[in-house]
Amino acid sequence: MERCLIHWSYFFLRILPFCMVCTQSVKNCVVRNEVADCSHQKLTQIPPDLPANITTLNLTHNQLKRLPPANLTRYGQLVILDGGFNSISKLEPELCQSLPLLKVLNLQHNELSQLSDKTFAFCLSLTELHLKSNPIQKISDNPLKNLKNLHLLDLSHIGLSSAKLGTQVQLENLQELLLTNNKIRMLKREDFDYLGNSSLRKLDLSSNHLIEFSPDCFRSIGKLYDLSLNNVQLGPELTEKLCLELSSTSVQSLNLSAIQLTKISNMTFRGLNQTNLTVLNLSHNGLTSIANDSFAWLSHLEWLVLENNNIDHLFSRSFYGLSNVKYLNLKRSFFKPKNSKISFPKIDDFSFQWLKCLEYLSMEDNSFSGITTNMFTGLTNLKSINLSSSFANLQILTNTTFSSLAYSPLLILNLTRNKISQIESGAFSWLGHLEVLDLGVNEISQELTGQEWKGLENIMEIYLSYNRYLILNSNSFASVPILKRLMLRRVDCKQLDVSPSPFHPLRNLTILDLSNNNIANINAEMLEGLDKLEILDLQHNNLARLWKHANPGGPVHFLKGLSHLRVLNLESNGFDEIPSDVFKGLFQLRAIYLGLNNLNLLPASLFDHQTSLKSLSLQKNLITSVEKGVFGPAFQNLTLLDMSFNPFDCTCESIAWFVSWLNKTHTHIEDLPSHYLCNTPPQYHGTPVMLFDISPCKDSAPFKMFFIINASFLCTLIFVVLLVHFQGWRISFYWNVTIHRALGFKEIERQQEQFDYAAYIIHAQEDSRWIWKYFSPMEEKDHSLRFCLEERDFEAGRPELEAIVHSIKRSRKIIFVVTQNLLKDPLCKRFKVHHAVQQAIEQNLDSIILIFLEDIPDYKLNHALCLRRGMFKSHCILHWPAQKERVHAFYQKLQVALGMRNRAH
Ligand SMILES: *[C@@H]1O[C@H](CO)[C@@H](O)[C@H](O)[C@H]1NC(C)=O
Ligand SMILES: *[C@@H]1O[C@H](CO)[C@@H](O)[C@H](O)[C@H]1NC(C)=O
Ligand SMILES: *[C@@H]1O[C@H](CO)[C@@H](O)[C@H](O)[C@H]1NC(C)=O
Ligand SMILES: *[C@@H]1O[C@H](CO)[C@@H](O)[C@H](O)[C@H]1NC(C)=O
Ligand SMILES: *[C@@H]1O[C@H](CO)[C@@H](O)[C@H](O)[C@H]1NC(C)=O
Ligand SMILES: *[C@@H]1O[C@H](CO)[C@@H](O)[C@H](O)[C@H]1NC(C)=O
Ligand SMILES: *[C@@H]1O[C@H](CO)[C@@H](O)[C@H](O)[C@H]1NC(C)=O
Ligand SMILES: *[C@@H]1O[C@H](CO)[C@@H](O)[C@H](O)[C@H]1NC(C)=O
Repeated sequence: MERCLIHWSYFFLRILPFCMVCTQSVKNCVVRNEVADCSHQKLTQIPPDLPANITTLNLTHNQLKRLPPANLTRYGQLVILDGGFNSISKLEPELCQSLPLLKVLNLQHNELSQLSDKTFAFCLSLTELHLKSNPIQKISDNPLKNLKNLHLLDLSHIGLSSAKLGTQVQLENLQELLLTNNKIRMLKREDFDYLGNSSLRKLDLSSNHLIEFSPDCFRSIGKLYDLSLNNVQLGPELTEKLCLELSSTSVQSLNLSAIQLTKISNMTFRGLNQTNLTVLNLSHNGLTSIANDSFAWLSHLEWLVLENNNIDHLFSRSFYGLSNVKYLNLKRSFFKPKNSKISFPKIDDFSFQWLKCLEYLSMEDNSFSGITTNMFTGLTNLKSINLSSSFANLQILTNTTFSSLAYSPLLILNLTRNKISQIESGAFSWLGHLEVLDLGVNEISQELTGQEWKGLENIMEIYLSYNRYLILNSNSFASVPILKRLMLRRVDCKQLDVSPSPFHPLRNLTILDLSNNNIANINAEMLEGLDKLEILDLQHNNLARLWKHANPGGPVHFLKGLSHLRVLNLESNGFDEIPSDVFKGLFQLRAIYLGLNNLNLLPASLFDHQTSLKSLSLQKNLITSVEKGVFGPAFQNLTLLDMSFNPFDCTCESIAWFVSWLNKTHTHIEDLPSHYLCNTPPQYHGTPVMLFDISPCKDSAPFKMFFIINASFLCTLIFVVLLVHFQGWRISFYWNVTIHRALGFKEIERQQEQFDYAAYIIHAQEDSRWIWKYFSPMEEKDHSLRFCLEERDFEAGRPELEAIVHSIKRSRKIIFVVTQNLLKDPLCKRFKVHHAVQQAIEQNLDSIILIFLEDIPDYKLNHALCLRRGMFKSHCILHWPAQKERVHAFYQKLQVALGMRNRAH
């Protein structure tokens, strides 16, 4: 029973919602901006519940058998209906009635077999009709005659054996007719009569089995501009016939690719003499020879494609007459010898001299022996020539190699993949206009002296990547100071510790690629002054030592001053240390690539100046923690982050900030769930970083705060308690003093004469004898000095207490003669001390003098008299000396204490 329950709840909680989602998505189309996409839904019915105002309905790749007009009436706003890739076998004429605004109807790859006159009777507004790949076979009568607005008609691959689509003139607005992949064998004279009134521009008859063109078969087509007959096995003879049939048309573009045109004679294109043909594609024809004057008929031609042929000899007049060609594609056009015994294809000198307008020449992927003296002579408008992989024997570029291009205003020269091993001095001196020189992927192995680039006065970009080895010296680029881009990837230029730097003259350099060179030694000046540099590629080198603290002379700051640097690539350099200030001042940096190094801890504030960074890559390092102090500035405006495959330490301290950033950032991070895994602690090993629960980390923050506040409160409290306990008397004493002062008991500056006595002496009865013995001699010596001694000076008859108060008031100071006896004297304790202290508080703290005849500890003094030594100034505390010799000094001290004027401190 319990098991059962569990099963059922599992079903309801897990499987049922999932099933509901499934079926919903099957039945649901994606509707966005009045476009409903119901493709790939296994639909057998037209969805009845889409918004009625949709204008596009995509029903492709479903299982619909019909398109009943009634079911589509709801979508009366439809402009585009795509029903391709279904099993629709019948089309009701009312379809177009239900959809009066329909312009595009696509029914390709269905099972329509019959088109009747009624089928499209109401489709007046249709502009595109796609019926490709339906088993229609035959079009009889005039099913298309009402399609007055049709622009495009695709009837490819429907088994047609004739191009005739009607018996009367129709389709007056048709511009494009596609009839490819049918079984049309011949074009009869009247086949295109139905297009008599049309403005057809493009006719595609590719991949048919045409074997015959009847005379005047194209004549009825009003304005045919573009004809394609690719993949029709015409051969030279039928091609010639075709051209004759095209003689009176307005054809401008002719695609004759893969028609087995193996030879072109001076008669082949004769028929095109009267036309304005501008584009001719003759690719993939196995063409072996072009006779002299073959193109003499094509004086308007601008674009000629001869790609992928098998020409073995280009004659000096093969291109005669092509005076308007701007673009010539000779990619893989020539025969390729399989072994070295067979001779190379040949291009006669001056062969290109007729191409006065040629701007772009592509000769990629051929195998000529070399460049002959006048190979390119006469190309007076040539701007770009691609000679990539063109030559079998072009090892050395001499100062004559390019002499035939001396009069061409060449801007781009591409010489990649030619096994070039050496560039001699002045090799490009003919090419003063050149802006881009591509010498990549060759076998150049030499020291660059700078003479190689002599005469390249307008050069912007030199591409030298992927060569065997290059040795650079201080002059290597001295002759091309305006260079903007220099590519030196994988050229084995290990030794760059040159002074002055080879790059020193290149003040305009914006891109420098030095990657894959195993460079280990550079100095801080290598890039000095390159303040326009924007992209620096240093990946796959060996620069780790330069940034180590232990590097002799300290870390090398080779990025210093590159104030415009935007992209910096330092991947795969073995870095395990980065000095904290290497990126300082690089405010423009947008992308930093530091992947595939050994970085673990990055210094805080490393990225402080990189707040506008867009892309940061640190994949495959040894980074364990991602902290705000390091990454905060860099992450601010990031759009792309790659930190995959690092051994993250999934603890609050290491990644809590990172995870909370991940949760709210819009930065694109590829493969976050699978490539960002915890390494430590062991219990999280292998779990995705993004699943790390940061809630316990968050809680610790307020808790910490709470703890700090509590602890400091407690400490203060303890301090106060201790203070009060040990120094409370002092506090209350000074408090009293302060209060009294504040309340106006100012020290009353009484004149000396106002006092009758110098001091009132408080002592125990038992100490009277000592007093008499030592104080009377002082009075005798100095007659102005008078002490108030109770036994002697109290007026007879006055009550004792009153007398004490009266006498204290008339004395300037009060002397306590402190002995054990005094501490025991009850009267002293209660009354005299109170009054004395009161007076001291009201007047002055100097007014009490303590004379200790014995050694009395402070606590006893306090206990008995509520006095402490700490209340009085040190000169007011005197000790009766044990030795006779010091008695004299005692008197002096006493006199000082008595003579002091009462003043507040
Ligand atoms: C058309 O609608 C009817 C009734 O609503 C429905 O039975 C039929 O399956 C629908 N047909 C298609 C092809 O959608
Ligand atoms: C189309 O209808 C939907 C609701 O069915 C509505 O949200 C949308 O605004 C409508 N669009 C237009 C252009 O009327
Ligand atoms: C309909 O969807 C298919 C497949 O998603 C797509 O190839 C086709 O271009 C779409 N048709 C229209 C008219 O957008
Ligand atoms: C060729 O072009 C010229 C002018 O551009 C024009 O007058 C002439 O009719 C065109 N010829 C054909 C056959 O289209
Ligand atoms: C075509 O070439 C042949 C020789 O191959 C020559 O006799 C004939 O005069 C040339 N015809 C034209 C029109 O140039
Ligand atoms: C080509 O046609 C022009 C007329 O446009 C004519 O003068 C010329 O002779 C023709 N060329 C040849 C070789 O038939
Ligand atoms: C080409 O170099 C040779 C020496 O290798 C020199 O004699 C000749 O003058 C140079 N020619 C030009 C045009 O610079
Ligand atoms: C040179 O040609 C090669 C091969 O076509 C191409 O990959 C390369 O991008 C070209 N170089 C330039 C600078 O266009």
